[in-house]
Amino acid sequence: MFQSFQNRAKINVRLMTEFDLDHVRNIERKAYDTDFWSRRTFEEELVNGFSEYLIAEIIDKEQQNQMLGFAGVWFMKDQLHLVTLAVLPDSQKVGIGSILLLGCFGLAISADMQSIVLEVRESNFKAQNLYKRFGFRKIGKLARYYRDNDEDAIVMLSHPLNSLTMKSLLREWHLIFGV
Ligand SMILES: CC(C)(COP(=O)(O)OP(=O)(O)OC[C@H]1O[C@@H](n2cnc3c(N)ncnc32)[C@H](O)[C@@H]1OP(=O)(O)O)[C@@H](O)C(=O)NCCC(=O)NCCS
Repeated sequence: MFQSFQNRAKINVRLMTEFDLDHVRNIERKAYDTDFWSRRTFEEELVNGFSEYLIAEIIDKEQQNQMLGFAGVWFMKDQLHLVTLAVLPDSQKVGIGSILLLGCFGLAISADMQSIVLEVRESNFKAQNLYKRFGFRKIGKLARYYRDNDEDAIVMLSHPLNSLTMKSLLREWHLIFGV
């Protein structure tokens, strides 16, 4: 079982602003192999009115912040679309991705969304495992979805956000991560 990351450090999740973009783009370049967004794309995402971006940062004893990861979502009619999720390679596998995902669930629930949907590369088992732990299941495939290598996308859907299954899963993860 996981040891709570919060026992060792304080992780803060907050909304991204344009002043974060240098760090965000640095994380994106280190976490993803390809398909980087331009600064302009990020700037547009921050003001388009239908998306929200989260930052996870560690706060040390001197109250200095270091950004470790980010996530982005689009609010569709009644469904949240997880657009991006990335954690600095050196900070992976300690729960930052999970904490960001919990933040996305929080955004979805507070906006009265019914579920969360996402696409993930067929070869990206790290991300698929994370999503499965939060109850996402495969609902389809988009052939040759990714332009860089023609890879297929797996489409994954969460449980309904108001279902007992989803609520108890989220409660469990909130307790584990202390957020
Ligand atoms: C996918 C990604 C966001 C996951 O981030 P992460 O911070 O490593 O995620 P977590 O730490 O919450 O979980 C990852 C693994 O660490 C394990 N872990 C997390 N905290 C732990 C702890 N305290 N103790 C032991 N194991 C722990 C989890 O069980 C999980 O293991 P699993 O892969 O066997 O299920 C990250 O790998 C990444 O940025 N990848 C590149 C970008 C990408 O592919 N994004 C997804 C696009 S769809």
